[in-house]
Amino acid sequence: MTDKKKILILPGDGIGPEVCNEAKKVLVALNDKFQYDIEFEEAEVGGAAFDKYGKPLPEATLEAAQNADAILLGAVGGPAWDDLDYDLRPERALLGLRSQLDLFANLRPAILSKHLVESSSLKSEKVEDLDLLIVRELTGGIYFGEPRGNLESENSAFNTMIYSREEIERIGRVAFEAAQKRSKSLCSVDKANVLEVSVLWREVIIEISKDYPDVELTHMLVDNAAMQLVKEPKQFDVIVTGNLFGDILSDIAAMLTGSIGMLPSASLNSKNQGLYEPVHGSAPDITGKGLANPIAAILSLAMMLKYSFGLNEASLAIENSIQTVLSEGFRTHDLEGSEETKLSTSDMGNKIVENL
Ligand code: NAD
Ligand code: IPM
Ligand code: MN
Repeated sequence: MTDKKKILILPGDGIGPEVCNEAKKVLVALNDKFQYDIEFEEAEVGGAAFDKYGKPLPEATLEAAQNADAILLGAVGGPAWDDLDYDLRPERALLGLRSQLDLFANLRPAILSKHLVESSSLKSEKVEDLDLLIVRELTGGIYFGEPRGNLESENSAFNTMIYSREEIERIGRVAFEAAQKRSKSLCSVDKANVLEVSVLWREVIIEISKDYPDVELTHMLVDNAAMQLVKEPKQFDVIVTGNLFGDILSDIAAMLTGSIGMLPSASLNSKNQGLYEPVHGSAPDITGKGLANPIAAILSLAMMLKYSFGLNEASLAIENSIQTVLSEGFRTHDLEGSEETKLSTSDMGNKIVENL
């Protein structure tokens, strides 16, 4: 690669800076190993931006995000900012970035490493070789629906779960195309027995399924899907669902793979610009202790190299290095294992760099 690429790193809050630091080490090592020219700059987001500039998503950060070739984000939020007004909360910055950049397609792969079967919450025979992909709609649904807010009395509050045909169709197509590249089975998750918005969701997904005759489409209600993910997760290959359901189901899927510290994500728009971030949050309970697992952040970087830059070799090198480190028995504190196998956040990052 001779092209110069510019990455924006938004470390954010809590363990965000800790895990981003490890991803940065990996990026520096890759530039060296493959002679890439990937530059990165950093900006504040979330609580860190609020503390410095009085707002969670300063214009300069948004502008840098719009101009970057790709974005890596750590995490936002934490107890210090929980009592702020809705518009000032750190989480608003993430939602703002997603909607401003139109990052509607959120890919959350849940893959169980064969070295981490013991760390899964489920019995090994239930999860061995688990490899599923949750495709979550990210810029619509109840997260963004208007109207929203409090009624005048302040004794009631409300949100609106709304999807247009177009929004459902575009995320549906992303999911069908992903399914075509995998085992050609897609499960659409909704609540069509209760919600009109889900009735439309199902209708549109069925309509577009005609363009993908090679994909077997099934539908499942979200409460059952939550149960089935824990009962028989390997029945799923690709799941497509709305914003809120996808948020919840991906945290469930995380534990199947051993820890939420293992799950990366890509949030893409139709121009394939992307924001990449671990699925986990800022983990205030372990911040600053060297206990955070940086693998989700490092795998998010691997997704960036693959999806935004087409650098499949480097992306694979990261994944292989992580597998080697895990196969040698090294763990972080969130993963099953004896005390002597446990590495700090930065030691895990260093090991992954060493094995690249
Ligand atoms: P969380 O994901 O931050 O933490 C849940 C649990 O998982 C905690 O016990 C935490 O210690 C553990 N955990 C999370 N990531 C880990 C890692 N990499 N290694 C080891 N353990 C890890 O969820 P929460 O506690 O519900 O939320 C805390 C804050 O993070 C809230 O302010 C929330 O809004 C925010 N949040 C942000 C994002 C994001 O930035 N994308 C995502 C989720 C939550
Ligand atoms: C996630 C997070 C976010 C979400 C929050 C922090 C806005 O939980 O990325 O999964 O709900 O989408
Ligand atoms: Mn979440």
